[in-house]
Amino acid sequence: MGRRKRPPHKLMTRIGALVLLSTASLWGQSIQYSEARKVWLLTTQQSSYALGVGPDGAVRHLYWGAPLWRVDDIPAPTQRRDISSFDPRQMIENEEFPGWGGTRYYEPALKITREDGDRDLVLKYASHRVQGNDLDISLKDIRDDIQVTLHYAVYPENGIVRRNATIRNGTTRPLTIESVQSATWYLPPGEGYQLSYLTGRWAAETQLNREPIHEGAKVLESRKGHTSHNFNPWFAIDHGDASEESGRVWYGALAWSGNWRITVEQTPYRQVRVTGGLNTFDFAYPLKPGESLDTPIFYAGYSDSGYGGASRTMHKFEREQILPGGKESRPRPVLYNSWEATTFNVNEAGQRELADKAAKLGVELFVMDDGWFGKRNDDRAGLGDWFVNPQKFPQGLKGLIDHVNGLGMDFGLWVEPEMVNADSDLYRAHPDWVMNFKDRPRSELRNQMVLNLARADVKEYIFGMLDKLAGEYNIRYFKWDMNRAFSEPGWPELAATDQRKLWVEYVRNLYEIFDRLRAKHPKLEIESCSGGGGRIDLGILRRVEEVWASDNTEAFDRLRIQEGFSQAYAAKIMSAWVTDVPNMNGRSTPLAFRFLVAMQGALGVGANLNKWTEQDSKTATDMIATYKRIRTTVQTGDLYRIASPRTNDVTVNQYVATDGKQSVVFAFRHSQEYNLAAPTIYLRGLDERALYKVESVNNKLLDRQTPVSGAYLMRAGLNVNLRGDFDSTAIILERQ
Ligand code: DGJ
Repeated sequence: MGRRKRPPHKLMTRIGALVLLSTASLWGQSIQYSEARKVWLLTTQQSSYALGVGPDGAVRHLYWGAPLWRVDDIPAPTQRRDISSFDPRQMIENEEFPGWGGTRYYEPALKITREDGDRDLVLKYASHRVQGNDLDISLKDIRDDIQVTLHYAVYPENGIVRRNATIRNGTTRPLTIESVQSATWYLPPGEGYQLSYLTGRWAAETQLNREPIHEGAKVLESRKGHTSHNFNPWFAIDHGDASEESGRVWYGALAWSGNWRITVEQTPYRQVRVTGGLNTFDFAYPLKPGESLDTPIFYAGYSDSGYGGASRTMHKFEREQILPGGKESRPRPVLYNSWEATTFNVNEAGQRELADKAAKLGVELFVMDDGWFGKRNDDRAGLGDWFVNPQKFPQGLKGLIDHVNGLGMDFGLWVEPEMVNADSDLYRAHPDWVMNFKDRPRSELRNQMVLNLARADVKEYIFGMLDKLAGEYNIRYFKWDMNRAFSEPGWPELAATDQRKLWVEYVRNLYEIFDRLRAKHPKLEIESCSGGGGRIDLGILRRVEEVWASDNTEAFDRLRIQEGFSQAYAAKIMSAWVTDVPNMNGRSTPLAFRFLVAMQGALGVGANLNKWTEQDSKTATDMIATYKRIRTTVQTGDLYRIASPRTNDVTVNQYVATDGKQSVVFAFRHSQEYNLAAPTIYLRGLDERALYKVESVNNKLLDRQTPVSGAYLMRAGLNVNLRGDFDSTAIILERQ
């Protein structure tokens, strides 16, 4: 959430308009403006977005879809007639950022209350400014100096348009924002649209749902303080006919790690609108005179090559524009994490032993999970006391870290900074630091309470603690965990009218800590974990290298979690571990199957290496070596989802390197029906004229000819010998 305060500049507006008009007919001009008709056209390589000012001064949406090149093709908005005394013209006029006021009845983008109870807000165009790929449009209420600046940014090469808004109280009286959204998006009027969205629960995150959009509203949201396992802030809409590789898909993702909401509505006039931003639930944000509020950023794109095209654009955009370091960031190392092996029973000798074994497998980053601090022997004590447990580590962490570094691995450490156990020195010293309503019970989940990070002193405490750890020890990586939802979100030190700012200030302070830590410790990398995938969104992704997709590491379940994850998020950030069997749901899959599932993201190992046989270690060593050979392709290549775990007895995913030189196909057989061959795999994204050397990591190819042309691989396909339950392979193609 940026804090931009750029006042509209009239001269700039005119100059911008002239320059842009003179080049308006050029394909690829990212922002064109027609002064005569007050219409803007925003264009990326994959999409265009147009808006304009109506005769009544309202800024209206005009187009969202495949790229256009000429602003003058776009009709200026005209004033419509009221449809009836029940349905005014605003029902069909598609305002970009409707205030709640006048005759407006659908989901507003902004709703306010003034001190005297007046709640009417009618926003009209005031001015605008174009600068490079940025467009700011200022709106103002018809009477009061309540300003809304709509920020648009275009990523021409990445196919994405970014939107958010700044609300400013320029009056002399306080007001309260009751609801504020980042953007409203409109689809072309019509019927038969279909919504894709991600739902879940702890240990079953990012499950893909697809359903028709009917009249009425569908709400995706979090009320839990964090992004949440239940819904992820991403949507995709198609015309009911899209597939992985064809069809028109409109999609978007909200960058906010607190309470958020996306409402997908179809109006009685066949208008599909998507409005998203801060959740209105328990929301009230007071603005004193002169104060302003920035809304979270909402990114959106359009694909005319189906869901696969939409995902590939998002993945590239994340890698290049969102993740720290962008294109320059290093490939994700193979990590080891101690959690499933040792849970809270960590100590120096045990961790050294695991580190020795992990290093031999080829692990590059050794992460010690929960249990190293305070009186943390189980989940009932210690959170908040971030000093090294002297019984477990008599010499502090230095001995272990030196040992890990000596083995050629980086060291990572688990922390859960936002939480406190009642049984902790921190809580005994600062019971007021927990969010609470005065004299009311403080609910515990996993025996812990949530610190009120909206408070400046709590923020400084957390920053100071992490800064000290990162300064004192050679820590390359924090796994930042967050293991419960908010409750009793009171801030008793503030006036009742101000307390609900907690929802927003908490997230801002959280982001600030990440940003300050990273600035002060430039080599530090961070993983976002919230009991698995409870905090995955484009806001946190600006600040972390990896996310923990789920506490469910069972490989077959993971295929579905990863399928949903891949709709919105890049493989590079998806931390995926190989763990022991039988896993949490009692299922046992072969080690090779577990490895190949995890190798589709940022590979990690989370097994108890002390229990592994020599054969297990050999399989792991081979798999890790193979992963290193293909990881650039997996982490930064284009993903083609060929067969979904939901609809087939096989799952197939193919990754194609950006330079086209390598491709990897992962194929998994879930459960074979007697004598039934696995379906032919038709590859994608290859050069039909090129020849590829084809090899299977475990000798599962039925067609043994090599090299083979791209044309053959894509049209005649590949056949693999996958049999029985949970058989798997990876096929590596090297362009000759
Ligand atoms: C929840 C995380 O998702 C796990 O990976 C592990 O770090 C535990 N917390 C530790 O308490």
